[in-house]
Amino acid sequence: MDYFEKTKIKKILQGNIDSYEDVIVLGWVKTKRVSKNIAFLEINDGSSVKNLQIVILDPSKYELDDLNRGSSVRIKGYLEDVPNREQSIEMKAEEIDIIGTAPDNYILQKKKHTFEFLREIAHLRPRTKTFSTVNRFRNKMAYAIHKYYQERGFQYIHSPIITASDAEGAGEMFKVTTLDLDNIPQNENGEVKYEEDFFGEQTGLTVSGQLEAEVMATALGDVYTFGPTFRAENSNTTRHASEFWMIEPEMAFCNLDEMMDIIEDFIKYLFKYALDEAAEEMEFFDNNIEEGRKETLKSIINSTFARITYTKAIEILKDADQDFEFPVEWGMDLQTEHERYLTEKYYNKPVLVTDYPRGIKAFYMRINEDEDTVAAVDCLVPEVGEIIGGSQREERYEVLKERMENENMNMDKYQWFLDLRKYGTVPHSGFGLGFERILMYISGIKNIRDVIPFPRTPGNADF
Ligand code: 4AD
Ligand code: MG
Repeated sequence: MDYFEKTKIKKILQGNIDSYEDVIVLGWVKTKRVSKNIAFLEINDGSSVKNLQIVILDPSKYELDDLNRGSSVRIKGYLEDVPNREQSIEMKAEEIDIIGTAPDNYILQKKKHTFEFLREIAHLRPRTKTFSTVNRFRNKMAYAIHKYYQERGFQYIHSPIITASDAEGAGEMFKVTTLDLDNIPQNENGEVKYEEDFFGEQTGLTVSGQLEAEVMATALGDVYTFGPTFRAENSNTTRHASEFWMIEPEMAFCNLDEMMDIIEDFIKYLFKYALDEAAEEMEFFDNNIEEGRKETLKSIINSTFARITYTKAIEILKDADQDFEFPVEWGMDLQTEHERYLTEKYYNKPVLVTDYPRGIKAFYMRINEDEDTVAAVDCLVPEVGEIIGGSQREERYEVLKERMENENMNMDKYQWFLDLRKYGTVPHSGFGLGFERILMYISGIKNIRDVIPFPRTPGNADF
C-alpha cells in the first residue's frame, strides 16, 4: 500500500530507510532561515520530537516567502549523512510543495509558552514539543498496558459507558437523559418520572467498569477494562479530571495479597517500559519537566513497595513530627496531606495501604475477620498521591446482601450483582489505575490537564 510508504522523519533520523534517493517527507515548518545562496528549513511530522533539517541550495527557485512557521509542506529530496552534527542526517530539497500556508501571526511562535496559555489553545498545543511528546508518550503507555495484560492471558473487555449502576455508590454520576429539561415529567411528590426517560430508568455515565468487569471475570477468568470514566465531583485540583481513563483488571480466584503482587509488578513494568521503549520521551521529560525522573523510576524498579495496613498508617501519622490540617483519628479517610506524608516523607517510595475501615470504603469490598475493616488496597506514590484503588471483593452472598441492605441500596437493581455470588461464587479481586495519574507520575508533569489532550474539568469542556 502506497500510503504506508511515506517516510516518517523518525525513521530517517534513526537511519531506518531503504534508500537515500527520492525521499518524500510531509510535515510542518518549525523554522526557516533564508540567505542569498542557501536556505534551511526544519520540518516536524509528529513522529519524533526531533526535526529534519532541509537544505535548499537554490532558494530563488522556490516560493519560500509563503513558508512561515506552522505551514504544511511536502518535500522531495535526497538524504546526506552529516557526521558530528546534532542530527547526523539531513535532506537536500529537490521539490517543495506548500500544502497549507500559515500567516505571520501564527500563535505558536518560537518562544516559551506557559502551560496555562497552551491549555487555552488545546487545538494547537499538540504541535509544541512538550505536548507532542506527551501525546506520543500517552500512546506508548496505552500500548504498554495492553501488552502487559495480553501477554499474561488477561482478556480485554468493554464495560458500558451509559449505565444505571453507580459502581462506587458515591453519587458522582453525570446524568444521561433525553427528558425535556424545560418540562420535566414529575409525579405527585415532585419526583422526576424516569420511567418516561429514554431508558425507562435513571441513567448516567459510568464512574467505573468494575461491576461489569466482575461479571466477565467470573466467566472468563482474568480480564481488564481500559476506557473512559466520568466523575461529576466538583474537585478543582491538579489531580482530578471529570473525564479520565481507567484500567481496571479483575481476577477470578485471586486474593488481596496475590493482587498486590500484580499491582507492584504492573507498575514496575510500566516504569521499565517507559525507560526502554519511550526513551526519547523520558529524555525530554528529564531535561524539560523534572530533572532526575529517570533515576527515580530506576530506583523504584529496584525497590520493594512498602505494604502497611491502614491501622499502621494511622500509628505512623500520629507519631509524625508534623501538624496536619485534618486531625488523625482511626476511622477517618486519609487526606492528601496524610497520603503525602506516608509516601513522600516516611517511605519516599510507593506504598500499598490495606485494610481500611469498612465505613469509608465501597459496599463491594470483602469484610475482614475483624469485621471492622475491609480487604481494600490503595497505592500511593510521591507527588501524585493515590494512583490505584482496589480490593478483594465480597464473594459471600449473605454478607454482601446484608451490607447492601444496610447501605439502603436498591436490591432489585443490583440483584444481578448478587447473583454472581449465588452461582459458583469465587474469591476475586480487582483494582483501578488512573491512566492520567500514572502518566503524571512517570513524566513528572504536575497538572492532570497537561497529560490528557482535551481535559474536562469543572467549568471546562471546550474543544
Ligand atoms: O479509587 P477509585 O474510585 O476506585 C474505583 O473506581 C474502583 N471501582 C476500581 C476497581 O477496583 N476496579 O478510582 C481508581 C483510580 C484512582 O486511584 C485514581 O488513580 C483514578 O482512578 N481516579 C481519578 N483520576 C483522575 N481524575 C479523577 N477524578 C479520578 N478519580 C479516580
Ligand atoms: Mg480511591
